[in-house]
Amino acid sequence: MSGHGTPIPMTSHRAEPLTGVAEVPGDKSISHRSLILGAMAIGETKISGLLEGDDVLDTAKAMQAFGAEVVNHGGGNWSVYGVGVGGFAEPGQVIDCGNSGTGVRLIMGCMATSPITVTFTGDASLNGRPMARVTDPLALFGAKAVGRKGGRLPMTIVGAAEPTPVRYVVPVPSAQVKSAVLLAGLNAPGKTVVIEKEATRDHSERMLAGFGAEITVEDSEEGRVITLTGRPELKPQEIAVPRDPSSAAFPVCAALITPGSDVLVPGIGLNPTRAGLFYTLQDMGADLTFENPREEGGEPVADLRAKYSPNMKGIEVPPDRAASMIDEYPVLSVVASFATGKTMMAGVKELRVKESDRIDAMAGGLRANGVTVDEGEDWWSVEGLGPDGVPGGGICESFLDHRIAMSFMVMGMGAQRPVTVDDGNPITTSFPIFEPLMTSLGAKLSQG
Ligand code: S3P
Repeated sequence: MSGHGTPIPMTSHRAEPLTGVAEVPGDKSISHRSLILGAMAIGETKISGLLEGDDVLDTAKAMQAFGAEVVNHGGGNWSVYGVGVGGFAEPGQVIDCGNSGTGVRLIMGCMATSPITVTFTGDASLNGRPMARVTDPLALFGAKAVGRKGGRLPMTIVGAAEPTPVRYVVPVPSAQVKSAVLLAGLNAPGKTVVIEKEATRDHSERMLAGFGAEITVEDSEEGRVITLTGRPELKPQEIAVPRDPSSAAFPVCAALITPGSDVLVPGIGLNPTRAGLFYTLQDMGADLTFENPREEGGEPVADLRAKYSPNMKGIEVPPDRAASMIDEYPVLSVVASFATGKTMMAGVKELRVKESDRIDAMAGGLRANGVTVDEGEDWWSVEGLGPDGVPGGGICESFLDHRIAMSFMVMGMGAQRPVTVDDGNPITTSFPIFEPLMTSLGAKLSQG
């Protein structure tokens, strides 16, 4: 889907105490990978708890265009009948990945070592994002890419007919780049080696192993060394997608800043490569606890309980935690506005190339709501105004970015005056039930 239609402004008014159970949708990263790996296995992969947001639905359509059969049984239960590694057909149409960087980059990876030619596009946000970070390593396999200036979409990739395996040191901390190379490596003979200096989310490694690929991970002086043996026969899986920690961040943070709140967010994936926000909130003094820790579908999971926390303090977020909370900085900056003292977020250059430039987008909106923000190329800081000190009353741009829109809706729940975003439509990319779920807890959201 390119674009989200006519912008619909959305306003968040001071909320009632947020109470109850927040059942957030399935993990976006794992949902994309379930569909893609299911399409590359032979036989039926059964998925429960799939995130049915626009991003993932676009990936489902893409897998159909490559020849896999994708069936929606309802209620988050899906089946993918895969065509096997190397079995992709050439799509008869352009692959439109909508807003999804993960979708397009992973799909580019998985087709780049097949003798097919595919053209990719997306919405205005995705078409402005850098793709060379993926097409550079794919070229080493023998794939060719022609895109717009600066390596932007729309872009055509001619997959390598005779791919060679690669050894690639990922130059930026990016799970999408790492995963694209690993997925390309699936159809290259021999061993593909990917090295990351900083650990990023490891769902691809875990799931490739689960699907029966030969994959090893070792720590070395160079970083995490991932070695994948190409041309495996992937075995179909039954996957229960855990609930998304990046979506859980919104009800959790909303509860921390809204007086009288006590919210339970059950079944949240707490993979250490994803859970950095929750430790950061605890470091700030948030009343946030992990209950009933367990393992589900190969991922650590717990129920989160978040209560109103008027005594939070600003902190320096450890830069080496950035990769494990990269999508959560926007909502963290909202919480930081309600803490006492300054919160410093450094080592976060990647925020500038997400669905929007998230540092600029949040800084602009926070300032419009009376919060002081300072920023540099790879850092930003927020001056906390204390639990009841955020004026609000601002109109913020969401820049086609779901997490920007939701972050400002959270801000309005605890601010003195309502907070508005110019467009709430992007929220459906990752959290289609955001409005009814938050309303059921006590939020007051309105259109306009
Ligand atoms: C994702 C990786 C991250 C993250 C994105 C999902 C993934 O992007 O921001 O929302 O599923 O691999 P980068 O790889 O660009 O850091």
